[in-house]
Amino acid sequence: MPDSGSQPPRVWRTKQASTHANPAPANPPLTLLPTPTSSEYDAAKARIHTHLVDTMNMSAITQLPVDQRRTDLRGTVRRAVESDPLAPVGDHSRLTEELLDDLLGLGPLEPLLRDPSVSDILVNGPFKVYVERKGRLELTSVRFRDSSHVMQILDRIVSHVGRRVDETSPMVDARLQDGSRVNAVIAPLALRGPSISIRRFGTKPLMMEDLLHFRALTPEMAHFLEAAVKSRLNAVISGGTGSGKTTLLNSLSRYIPDYERIVTIEDAAELQLQQEHVVPLETRPPNIEGKGQVTTRDMVRNCLRMRPDRIIVGECRGGEAFDMLQAMNTGHDGSLTTLHANSPRDTISRLETMMLMAGYDLPMKAMRQQIASAIQLLVQSNRLQGGVRRITSITEVVGLEGDTVVLQDIFTYHQIGTLPDGKAHGQFKATGVRPKCMSRLASRDVHFPMDFFAERILMSDSDL
Ligand SMILES: Nc1ncnc2c1ncn2[C@@H]1O[C@H](COP(=O)(O)OP(=O)(O)OP(=O)(O)O)[C@@H](O)[C@H]1O
Ligand SMILES: [Mg+2]
Repeated sequence: MPDSGSQPPRVWRTKQASTHANPAPANPPLTLLPTPTSSEYDAAKARIHTHLVDTMNMSAITQLPVDQRRTDLRGTVRRAVESDPLAPVGDHSRLTEELLDDLLGLGPLEPLLRDPSVSDILVNGPFKVYVERKGRLELTSVRFRDSSHVMQILDRIVSHVGRRVDETSPMVDARLQDGSRVNAVIAPLALRGPSISIRRFGTKPLMMEDLLHFRALTPEMAHFLEAAVKSRLNAVISGGTGSGKTTLLNSLSRYIPDYERIVTIEDAAELQLQQEHVVPLETRPPNIEGKGQVTTRDMVRNCLRMRPDRIIVGECRGGEAFDMLQAMNTGHDGSLTTLHANSPRDTISRLETMMLMAGYDLPMKAMRQQIASAIQLLVQSNRLQGGVRRITSITEVVGLEGDTVVLQDIFTYHQIGTLPDGKAHGQFKATGVRPKCMSRLASRDVHFPMDFFAERILMSDSDL
C-alpha cells in the first residue's frame, strides 16, 4: 500500500494550493492541529466497521427517511463500539459518530460538509484534506484511512449520479445531493492518491445582495448588469478558476423575467434558477464502452430546437462556443455563459480558439465578425489576494474595426495594494464611457440618469 508508511506531521503551516490564485499573505499563520488519529484507533474503527457491514441489514436502513437513519442506527453502532474490547474507551463517542459518517454518508468528509463556513473541500490523497473558508485555504485534521478509503467514498458519490470512476475512466464530474459540484481524478493520472475537489454549492448560493455585501461589485454595476440582462444583451462572464463566474451567472439569471423559457446546459448542474419555466440539461460522459457521450456542443445544437427564449451555458470550453455565438446571432439574444480567461481581451482570443475547435476553417476576420456582432458585454471576475473576489471590469464589445474587436471598459476595478490582513484593496471606477448599448436599453424602456456613467471613483476598499 503506497500510503501506509506516510504519517502526517503534527504541525502544518497553512498553505496555499496555488500561489497564482491565492497568494500567501505576508506572514501565514501556523495552525496547530489535533493529534493525528492513532493506529489503535484506526484499527478499532476498521474492525468495527467490517463487523457492522457484515451484520447489519443496510438495505432496511436505506428504506428509512434520510434524517431518521442516523438516529436509528446510533444505538447499534454505539453497542458495537462498546463491545469491542480494544476500542479506546475515551474515544467511544467519536468512534460512533465517525462510523455513522462512514456507513451513511461521505465518511471523513461529513463534518466538513456539515460546516456552513466551508466553501470548497479539496482532498489530496488520504492524508491531506484542505478546505476553503472565507476565501482562504486551510489544511484540516481530517484524514482517510488510506487511498482505498478515499475510493470507497468516491464510489459512493459517483455511483449516486450514475457515473463511475476507475482506471479506464480516471476523471469524473459528479454532484452531491445538495448540488455541490465534485471533480475527482484517480490513479494512474493522480500520482499521490485520489484527488477530490468539491465546490460547495449549498442550499443557498450567494445572491446579488451577498455579492454587494462582499463588495464584489458596486450598486451601480449591479444596476447596469440587471438592466443588461432584462434588455436581453448577450453576455460572457470570464475569470479564473474559482473566481466567482458561476455565482455571478446564477445571480444575474434572477433578472430574467418569469415568462421566458430558459434552457440551461451544464456539465454538472450548479445553477439554481428560480423561474417557472426552466429546462435544466446536463451533459453525459461516455459509458464503460466509450459510448453514449453527450457533449455541451450536442446539447447547444439540440436546444435550438427546444424553442428557448434564453440559452445559458454553464461554461464554454470548446466547439460549443461556435454554436452558442451562432445562436446569439440568430435571435437567441439574452444568452449568457462563462469561460476561463484572464481579461476581456483574453476572452476574445479564447472565443476565437474555441471557435476553431468546432472544426470549421473560418477566416479570422469572419470569426471576429461573428464574435463582435454576437456579444455585447464581457464581465470579468477575478480572485485577488486574500481570496477576495472582484468584478474587475464590465466591458462593452463595440464592434469590429479592421481586424480588431473593439472593446471599451464601462466600469473597472484596480487593485492599489494589499491590506495588513493580506487582502487586496483597490477602487471601483466608472470610466466615463457612455455605453453604446444605451440605445438598445432605451428601446426596452431602461433609462439611466445622465451622470450615471460619469467618470468617478464609485467605491474604494479603504472606505471600509
Ligand atoms: N464575491 C464573492 N465573495 C466571496 N466568495 C465568493 C464570491 N463569489 C463566489 N464566491 C465563492 O467562491 C467559490 C467559487 O465560486 P464559483 O463556483 O462561482 O466560481 P467559478 O469561477 O465558477 O469556478 P470554476 O472555475 O471552478 O467553475 C464558491 O464557493 C462561491 O461561493
Ligand atoms: Mg464555474
